[in-house]
Amino acid sequence: MPVPSATAARPPASGFSAAPGPLRDRFGRIITDTRISITDRCNYRCVYCREGGEEAGQAGRELSWDDWRQVLLVLRRLGIRKLRFTGGEPLLRRGLIEFIASLAPLGFEDLALTTNGHLLAAQAAELRRAGLQRITVSLDSVQPEKFARIARVPGAWERVRDGIAAAQTAGLEPVKINAVLLRGFNDDEIEAFAEFARRQRVVVRFIEFMPLEEGRLWTPEIVVTMREILERLQARYRLESLPVEGGETARRFRFADGSPGEIGIIAPVTQPFCGHCSRIRLTADGKLRTCLFSLREWPLAAALRAGGEELEALVRRAVAHKEERHHIGEPGFQRPSRTMVHIGG
Ligand code: GTP
Ligand code: 5AD
Ligand code: SF4
Repeated sequence: MPVPSATAARPPASGFSAAPGPLRDRFGRIITDTRISITDRCNYRCVYCREGGEEAGQAGRELSWDDWRQVLLVLRRLGIRKLRFTGGEPLLRRGLIEFIASLAPLGFEDLALTTNGHLLAAQAAELRRAGLQRITVSLDSVQPEKFARIARVPGAWERVRDGIAAAQTAGLEPVKINAVLLRGFNDDEIEAFAEFARRQRVVVRFIEFMPLEEGRLWTPEIVVTMREILERLQARYRLESLPVEGGETARRFRFADGSPGEIGIIAPVTQPFCGHCSRIRLTADGKLRTCLFSLREWPLAAALRAGGEELEALVRRAVAHKEERHHIGEPGFQRPSRTMVHIGG
């Protein structure tokens, strides 16, 4: 009987098992996207997100860049193709640009970032040079004064406006704008946002508000639904549906008159997209979450110390427990263990 060679039985020097299969959960969904909250600190206090008082996060609890690189090496091997950096506000964290540049050898197909835009004007060109491909900017009003009241930072509008322009100049196009709609607050701006999309040549995405805020603002009535948004837009514009790409959460529309700009509607409350969810999330303090609404988290710390194989096993175990869907609006719905500023959008 041939004796297996000792080297063949041993895992490669990196500490990895050979040829991992795709990351598949028990409902058959394949996980290809990861959202990393780089920091849960934030320089805005958006009224629908933060309660107002305390600081959101602490720099001292953030995972180091070296640790993130180790985690991402494993995730890439496990078939993760798309990465999105979120926060808090990711541009607050020093070293992000160098970190993004250092990921080039890992070969992720899509590197994107979601920001509030406040620090974007100064960083857009360098982010692009470092290898960032796409950017999403949160903007919940196109009225400068109202926007400053939402973010609770004077001058916020001008900063974000300049950030969007810098991102376009840097080639981070098309810039996507995320607008969370709240009834009685900014739902009077649906048409103004559409005009903004046309004029500024951006993709404006309206988002249904989810119960992820620090306070207790959310009610079913405050949610402005996809149906309402579409009715309002169609009363003014002729819209044409665009095909939705894999894993994308937004229904997409272009203007039939050929105008630049695009509309997206993200409807997690009235049209959940959990059935084809392809994402996992990592928090700034190194916990893996398999759903925005997870009640359970998977700390990476011990596996990080143990090395590649342990990390791989942990990620597989967590994905095997991925929740089937969220239960917003159902009796017995439990809020997740953390709020949006800590999870990352
Ligand atoms: P791309 O579409 O790839 O450009 O990414 P994006 O971050 O710009 O959009 P994405 O659809 O990933 O997220 C936009 C918004 O949709 C987020 O800010 C959340 O409000 C919401 N969202 C994102 N992921 C999820 C999710 O897994 N579950 C739910 N319920 N909502 C999500
Ligand atoms: N529901 C839906 N979207 C939210 N965001 C923040 N809080 C909520 C919420 N409760 C959005 C932000 C940002 C992204 C990170 O998530 O506007 O664009
Ligand atoms: Fe606003 Fe995003 Fe900061 Fe929350 S995390 S306060 S939504 S900018």
